[in-house]
Amino acid sequence: MLGAFCISILAVLYAVPASTAYGFPDCANGPLAHTTVCDTSATPLARAKALIAMFNTTELVSNTDNASAGVARLGLPAYNWWSEALHGVASSPGVTFASSGDFRFATSFPGPILMSAAFDDAMIKAVASVISTEARAFNNAGRAGLDYFTPNINPFRDPRWGRGQETPGEDPFRIAQYVFSLIDGLQGGIDPPRFKIAADCKHFAGYDIEDWEGNLRYAFDAVISTQDLSEFYLPPFQSCVRDAKVASVMCSYNAVNGVPSCADAYLLKTILRDFWGFDEERWVTSDCDAVGNFIDHKFVADLPHAAADGIKAGTDIDCGSTYGNNLAAALNMSLLNVSDIATALTRQYASLVRLGYFDPAAAQPFRQLGWADVNTPSSQQLAYEAAVAGVVLLKNDGTLPLSKSKKLALIGPWANATRQLQGNYQGIAPFLVSPFAAAQAAGFATTLTAGTAINSTDTSGFAAALAAARAADAIVFAGGIDGSIEAEAKDRDEITWPGNQLDLVAQLAGLGKPLVVLQFGGGQVDGAALKSNPKVNAILYGGYPGQAGGTAIMDIVSGKVSPAGRLPVTQYPASYVDAVPMTDMSLRPSATNPGRTYKWLTTAPTFEFGTGLSFTTFRLGFARTPPASYSIQALVAAGRSAAHLDLAPFDTFSVSVHNAGKVASDFVALLFVKTTAGPAPFPNKELISYVRTKGVAAGHTATASLPVTLGSIARVDAQGNAWLFPGDYTLMVDVPTAITHSFRLTGSAAQLTHFPAPPS
Ligand SMILES: *[C@@H]1O[C@H](CO)[C@@H](O)[C@H](O)[C@H]1NC(C)=O
Ligand SMILES: *[C@@H]1O[C@H](CO)[C@@H](O)[C@H](O)[C@H]1NC(C)=O
Ligand SMILES: *[C@@H]1O[C@H](CO)[C@@H](O)[C@H](O)[C@H]1NC(C)=O
Ligand SMILES: *[C@@H]1O[C@H](CO)[C@@H](O)[C@H](O)[C@H]1NC(C)=O
Ligand SMILES: *[C@@H]1O[C@H](CO)[C@@H](O)[C@H](O)[C@H]1NC(C)=O
Ligand SMILES: *[C@@H]1O[C@H](CO)[C@@H](O)[C@H](O)[C@H]1NC(C)=O
Repeated sequence: MLGAFCISILAVLYAVPASTAYGFPDCANGPLAHTTVCDTSATPLARAKALIAMFNTTELVSNTDNASAGVARLGLPAYNWWSEALHGVASSPGVTFASSGDFRFATSFPGPILMSAAFDDAMIKAVASVISTEARAFNNAGRAGLDYFTPNINPFRDPRWGRGQETPGEDPFRIAQYVFSLIDGLQGGIDPPRFKIAADCKHFAGYDIEDWEGNLRYAFDAVISTQDLSEFYLPPFQSCVRDAKVASVMCSYNAVNGVPSCADAYLLKTILRDFWGFDEERWVTSDCDAVGNFIDHKFVADLPHAAADGIKAGTDIDCGSTYGNNLAAALNMSLLNVSDIATALTRQYASLVRLGYFDPAAAQPFRQLGWADVNTPSSQQLAYEAAVAGVVLLKNDGTLPLSKSKKLALIGPWANATRQLQGNYQGIAPFLVSPFAAAQAAGFATTLTAGTAINSTDTSGFAAALAAARAADAIVFAGGIDGSIEAEAKDRDEITWPGNQLDLVAQLAGLGKPLVVLQFGGGQVDGAALKSNPKVNAILYGGYPGQAGGTAIMDIVSGKVSPAGRLPVTQYPASYVDAVPMTDMSLRPSATNPGRTYKWLTTAPTFEFGTGLSFTTFRLGFARTPPASYSIQALVAAGRSAAHLDLAPFDTFSVSVHNAGKVASDFVALLFVKTTAGPAPFPNKELISYVRTKGVAAGHTATASLPVTLGSIARVDAQGNAWLFPGDYTLMVDVPTAITHSFRLTGSAAQLTHFPAPPS
């Protein structure tokens, strides 16, 4: 009763709406006052332990799920662990947008796949800082939690994946850099004493199938070699956990090599806690209902065993109800003991301690944030810039940019897109600028005709579209895919442009007028027919560009800004879906797999990873000629002082970027390496560094500085260990390769990492 009384006082003080579950414990006057959890001089772990030690068994069990009941007699409020914020504070069980007045929207940034295409890590940190500021403002109003089940960092392995849009793409190095900057911005620094918000890297591990030909994520067993696990599936998580020090990790629905991820002590203890140092102030949540899904995996016969196996493997929170409903029975059956549950809860509440949950509000800057900090002019500008920076120009014969004196016929199922601009895991945006509205605002005289829908065989709209095109000076077709084609729980069977969109484009091309195709959606669609058709003059890829998406696209169409984004994925030919089943998790080419991602693909892509044109011409050269050889033993000796040998510097390469064209543009310098050193087979090439050089003026030369670590030039053996191998290496800059430099690593092979062996 006392606890409930204190919460209602708080509700008045902080104007917490009665409908939400959020409040703060009262460490000044509540039952917890003068206990260790309220002692700001004690360590977060000691504070959390002291709190959990006060719980009886019933109270322990009632706080193990996503909807923690709190403990009323201690004045500990209920807490909802499930809030989302993939590209802005997002609608989710723990987030409540107001229907009117304050807190009715939050800034809606582009989907991650487009933000990744910008190859600008400082921008990712800036975006994440805005998201965490707005999240705190929502929390202070009782409308969102302090922890967020974001980001999704599984590499986009197969083009059919319905959730590839949520990821930074297919390259583990790119994702690792992206997630480091993102966590920095979300959590308010790299492991700051007090978290801004707690992020959650998901889905650990090997998760990238929703529902492909009846293979459901809830029961899918991903068969993954140790080499691929170490080299492809885990580097984003290593960066998130070991280097960026994320507060939490989500284990995935799928099994890896026979064990459901949320029951897998090899993943959750050996790799996560022992190898990467995920400490006792950090927690693992299951994906929602993943513990109950142990039954679907036929891993356990009943839910008490599922609950006990989850906790004992290291899944601290069950997003679901399996723990809450079955732990009492599991205790009764001696499947686990009370201290196993207390350990899990201590990790969760240690994280809340680090979020300032038990500290005086007045002393905390984050607790002062409010509605005035949401959707600020600078956040709106950043949402626009993030979209502009990511847009990728795939083809251009000089038709783009289009003069504003041209009358445009804007045609297609994305031409008037609003909600579509956000993609999935979205919130409520303050506004959504469609391509049509943006074209008009930019000053183009524009007509709007749908022509067809995303996946339609109906041609009845073609005539109107062709008539509009005939009446215009230039045609802009806006189409591709959206959430009706790619979604959570929905993989694709085909990677072609759906429906009759390309039939309409072919007819429009027949008119012989300037024709620009805008391709939207997270996953790629095979544009081979557009690429080869000389009457399709230009193709722009716009992903899910967010609240300012139309403006961003039209500012590129009109030439106000030069595009500089690069594809963070391969655009595969349509036939790829017949060449390898989605369930084949291997990356390297084999008799039954043409190879996955730009590193291993043995057939020709439609557009290669890293493709991206601009409105100017860049000439590249090495600003300093790099050395012709390096001694492995000298590199390793010099690297011993680094926190981790794989992060020790190899060298920093300087590339001069000369703008030989007529307009200013950003330039993304991509540095790859290719070698035949180490274990066969050998990748086509691997991305080892990149940098976005901003605003290179026409006629000017900038220098792109490209740092490379030892880990980046290492290769991984069958046991998952990274090594520096002696042999010949070639640096390759840009896509297609513009300049190269060859060097040799001399000496004997040196082991950089010792990957934990799986249980035999
Ligand atoms: C634990 O405390 C709650 C009050 O929070 C009480 O209702 C319950 O009976 C207690 N359970 C045990 C096992 O003591
Ligand atoms: C907790 O997670 C479960 C599992 O998905 C979900 O059904 C439920 O709505 C969530 N509860 C709350 C309060 O968020
Ligand atoms: C514990 O087991 C006993 C019998 O062994 C049973 O009577 C009791 O209901 C069980 N309690 C729970 C919570 O399952
Ligand atoms: C509880 O079980 C764990 C193993 O799950 C064991 O390490 C620990 O010693 C046990 N604690 C008690 C108090 O029995
Ligand atoms: C375009 O979208 C806006 C906003 O959703 C809507 O109000 C308008 O009617 C649409 N225009 C056409 C021609 O469909
Ligand atoms: C697209 O439409 C066809 C029928 O024309 C249908 O068979 C297919 O399932 C649709 N695709 C999706 C992803 O809904």
